[in-house]
Amino acid sequence: MAENILIAIAWPYANAEIHVGNITGSHLPGDIVARYHRLKGNNVLMVSGTDSHGTPVTLRADAEGKPVEEVYKRFHATFLEVFCNYGITYDLFTSTHTQNHFKVAQSIFLALLQNGFMFTQKSMQWYSPNAGKFLPDRYVEGTCYICGYEGARSDQCDKCGNVLEPEKLINPRSKTGDGSLELRETEHFYLDLSKLEPEVKRFLKERAAHMRETVLGESLGKIEAEGLKPRPITRDLDWGIPVPVEGWDGKCLYVWFEAVIGYLSAAIEWSHIAGQGEAWRQWWVNPEAKQFYFIGKDNIFFHTSLWPAQLMGAGKTFLKIFAEEEQALTLPFDVPANQFMNLEGDKISGSKNWAVWARDALTRYDADALRYYLTANMPEAKDSDWDWAEFVTKNNSELVATWGNLANRVLSFCYKHWDGHVPAVDIHTLRSVDLELLAVIEAGFQTVGGLIEAVKLRAALGEAMRLATAVNQYLDQTAPWSAVKNDKNEAAKTIYTALKAIDSLKVLFAPFLPFTSERLHTFMGYTEPLFGEQYTESVQDALGEHIVLRYRPPAHNLPRWAPSQLNPGQQLNQPYPLFKKLDESVIADERARLGKEIKIA
Ligand code: MF3
Ligand code: ZN
Repeated sequence: MAENILIAIAWPYANAEIHVGNITGSHLPGDIVARYHRLKGNNVLMVSGTDSHGTPVTLRADAEGKPVEEVYKRFHATFLEVFCNYGITYDLFTSTHTQNHFKVAQSIFLALLQNGFMFTQKSMQWYSPNAGKFLPDRYVEGTCYICGYEGARSDQCDKCGNVLEPEKLINPRSKTGDGSLELRETEHFYLDLSKLEPEVKRFLKERAAHMRETVLGESLGKIEAEGLKPRPITRDLDWGIPVPVEGWDGKCLYVWFEAVIGYLSAAIEWSHIAGQGEAWRQWWVNPEAKQFYFIGKDNIFFHTSLWPAQLMGAGKTFLKIFAEEEQALTLPFDVPANQFMNLEGDKISGSKNWAVWARDALTRYDADALRYYLTANMPEAKDSDWDWAEFVTKNNSELVATWGNLANRVLSFCYKHWDGHVPAVDIHTLRSVDLELLAVIEAGFQTVGGLIEAVKLRAALGEAMRLATAVNQYLDQTAPWSAVKNDKNEAAKTIYTALKAIDSLKVLFAPFLPFTSERLHTFMGYTEPLFGEQYTESVQDALGEHIVLRYRPPAHNLPRWAPSQLNPGQQLNQPYPLFKKLDESVIADERARLGKEIKIA
């Protein structure tokens, strides 16, 4: 039976371009798992969108002196381009600035209110008399009262990762240069997380066996040590989703409270624009559905504690408000958060331009070469480092030498000596060495698949590469290059076997290296593609027109995560190399581009 798999990926703020750390942190792992499940024939929905509200975005617009709407749309457009070109196959990549999202977010808010998980409270907030407005969240920076970090934002400290209470910040200063700050009274809605604490704990304990240690430590560990406290979930801001309660004009829902709701609203939006009616329920009103959330470590609290609390607190009431029926929503299955990727030993920083920008990198390197390095170096258990020397080495000695050359060597040789066809061997005459190799490769569908399901993607890719090495060893042993001269029949068995192994490896590599696997698939003579296509579409919504990224599955929709079905005698297509070897000079060039002194080896 096909499983329903929701791939939910953190929504990038519309305040900066995407860099390689963002790709490896969430979008790429999500895409790998999504593609794997599609190949298995499972029912996948992969969603995300631009996080277009909140102070990260308004601050950027302030700094540029441009309307927020214009700024978020500009970044949104760059996101669509990057994901399309990296093959990040979103079924829907939308934005939080849609009427649909407003409605869903407001309905969740009202459900929590009805169920008694909210209260209003007056508190003191930073206010700028010069600007004549409150300065919430990132508008104010200062010293963290927990760890002493001087660059803490009033709502969150990037150093210790704690969510902060703004009024406790030490030495607060305005980010906009609006002069002095004072504390003024204001009123907000609070989500009473303390009431939901037992349920959140139970939820986490039920999933503890398959969740990452790092994620459990940041969630269950923290809750057990400190408990869950009520959190204000509205803000004095005019850009965002209005609080759906009379008399609350001029206040908006807190960006984190509403952005996480995007996973649900995007599924609903996808159903509508795909003309699939109520299909979103397969992932959202279905206890059997498996939801995976791909995020960076700074987002853990919001996905393991806040979002499940919102879902459990809204309970059956959300659907009652939204669709006049009483059913509970599906809870997350796994939250495989990644740590961070640094660059050449230092933290990636957009503002200091210490970054490898995703768009820029694609002007010099192929998407699969980047995807390979970003997966082999994914910060799954600890922070990793993008190192240009290692990028070149891994590209040349693993991707090109082990996998690319294997495929190209065997295909070209076969194309030349067997007149563009798979050798027409009688499969009953295969030798034990051939059958053994095929058995080893076949087992890879279990091992690589199991590792992907457990979201151990580095290990999964390593296992696929290990199998490619096994095929290289087989070729060293059977030496078809010389056998072809005196016993073409024996060489035919070897080439047939190697082609079958490569055809299987193509599938094992496909979630990681979709572009080259698709190309190899064509070389092998198949006419139906492995994957579908991405495209952008303009959608009309009550808030205006917006552009979304979509994915069209292949017409056949056959499960493909299975050993090769290549037939003796099958017609091939002229192959050419899948990957490019990189010159060592790349290392110095790229380091110079970063403005870093060139290390002399
Ligand atoms: N915009 C946030 C960030 O870039 C992530 C939001 S994830 C969501 O850190 F689920 F809340 F949307
Ligand atoms: Zn801190």
